[in-house]
Amino acid sequence: MRLAVTGREGQVAASLVEAARGRDDVEVVAVGRPALDLARPDTVFAALEAARPDIVVSAAAYTAVDQAEDEKDLAFTVNATGAGKVAEAAERLGVPVIHLSTDYVFDGAKDGAYVETDATAPLGVYGASKLAGEEAVAAANPRHIILRTAWVYSPFGRNFVKTMLRLAADRDEIAVVADQWGNPTSALDITDAILHAAAKVRDDRNFVAFGVYHLAGEGDTNWSGFARHILDTSRALGGPYAKVRDIATADYPTKARRPQNSRLSSAKFARVLGWQAPQWRASVDVAIGHLPIGRTCIPVN
Ligand SMILES: NC(=O)c1ccc[n+]([C@@H]2O[C@H](COP(=O)([O-])OP(=O)(O)OC[C@H]3O[C@@H](n4cnc5c(N)ncnc54)[C@H](OP(=O)(O)O)[C@@H]3O)[C@@H](O)[C@H]2O)c1
Repeated sequence: MRLAVTGREGQVAASLVEAARGRDDVEVVAVGRPALDLARPDTVFAALEAARPDIVVSAAAYTAVDQAEDEKDLAFTVNATGAGKVAEAAERLGVPVIHLSTDYVFDGAKDGAYVETDATAPLGVYGASKLAGEEAVAAANPRHIILRTAWVYSPFGRNFVKTMLRLAADRDEIAVVADQWGNPTSALDITDAILHAAAKVRDDRNFVAFGVYHLAGEGDTNWSGFARHILDTSRALGGPYAKVRDIATADYPTKARRPQNSRLSSAKFARVLGWQAPQWRASVDVAIGHLPIGRTCIPVN
């Protein structure tokens, strides 16, 4: 099975490429800039055609949540028009598309975990552009799986886990928001889930369960609880450690508003596609195990 994933250095793209290295039944081709530039949607088809995929994974996105408030046109071009072109290219090539989306399509006002049928109401430009992307993907290719995920980290790229480790290397205490709740999700697990779903779609010619799915780590916490677990694990491995001090969202103003409740229920994915995400703490430990903690260097991203 040959997957083309959009983006080169992104967390999900890099994790997929890495996962395929250890398997002989899967080949992953990362297709990114300059050949495929979602800001120039006319580049998309030729780049994906050249990759000759059995399935397209649409992981590239404009992900700078705060900056998107000032770059609305670019965010929509990349996340909506560009994503739609990726799904359209897959359709023209006769293959399904697995498209990554986000908890930011919700406003966070729900009490409890969001399910796929809950009403969307993005709080900012990034969430609105990703929601428009979902609509463009669904309209362009009926054979789509839209995976909404959240709080993604991995051994690759920039993310909260690496930021906490970097800060702990030169501070005794880190202030972290304790009133936003969600499910930390490892890109290594997302990769497993994507490969599982891709094989299912490819092997089952009668597969009809296309649509929207939520996929996030099992169990929930707030950013502060997430940070504490990262730093406890790091300390146990001989890596950097700092105390975590709880603060409120109001103490850490950002340009874009974030949902206070980002919890996603992954029950539909488990029931229909037969893959269950691990407990988030176990996945954090696995990801940190991939980093050079306590050995020769501290991650710099
Ligand atoms: N990170 C999260 O917490 C989170 C949460 C929920 C949903 N998601 C969604 O999950 C997906 C994967 O996220 P991630 O964390 O892997 O993202 P990421 O690490 O921020 O990487 C973004 C990727 O998009 C690519 N990209 C950006 N602009 C592009 C353009 N104009 N043309 C082509 N490629 C472009 C980047 O390319 P380069 O390789 O060239 O830099 C990079 O590969 C995204 O769709 C994101 O919206 C992420």
